[in-house]
Amino acid sequence: MPEADFRSVGRVEDIPPGTIRAVEVDDQEIAIANVDGEFFATQQHCLHLQGPLAEGRLEGKTLSCPWHGWQYDVRTGKNEFDHSIQLQTFEVKVEGDEVKVAV
Ligand code: FES
Repeated sequence: MPEADFRSVGRVEDIPPGTIRAVEVDDQEIAIANVDGEFFATQQHCLHLQGPLAEGRLEGKTLSCPWHGWQYDVRTGKNEFDHSIQLQTFEVKVEGDEVKVAV
């Protein structure tokens, strides 16, 4: 398998614990969440009607879509109510003070 290509998407301090930010890597829109210092990345658009997830509310690991409240576990991308609905997730690592996402 080819090695994942990690791209820098910002600095650790730009995404404080309990917050979520939208970033763009190539043409992909990705939401990066900081859950108590650990970073997770999912696709930015909700699987209901494409709501912008990074504008939603992050409580612990649970991200609520700002439009109609669908909730996802940012660690797995799974919808909290229907586990057959799952956001695409991306691997994240921190190097120095940079947050990097595998695309
Ligand atoms: S678009 Fe996300 S809940 Fe409707």
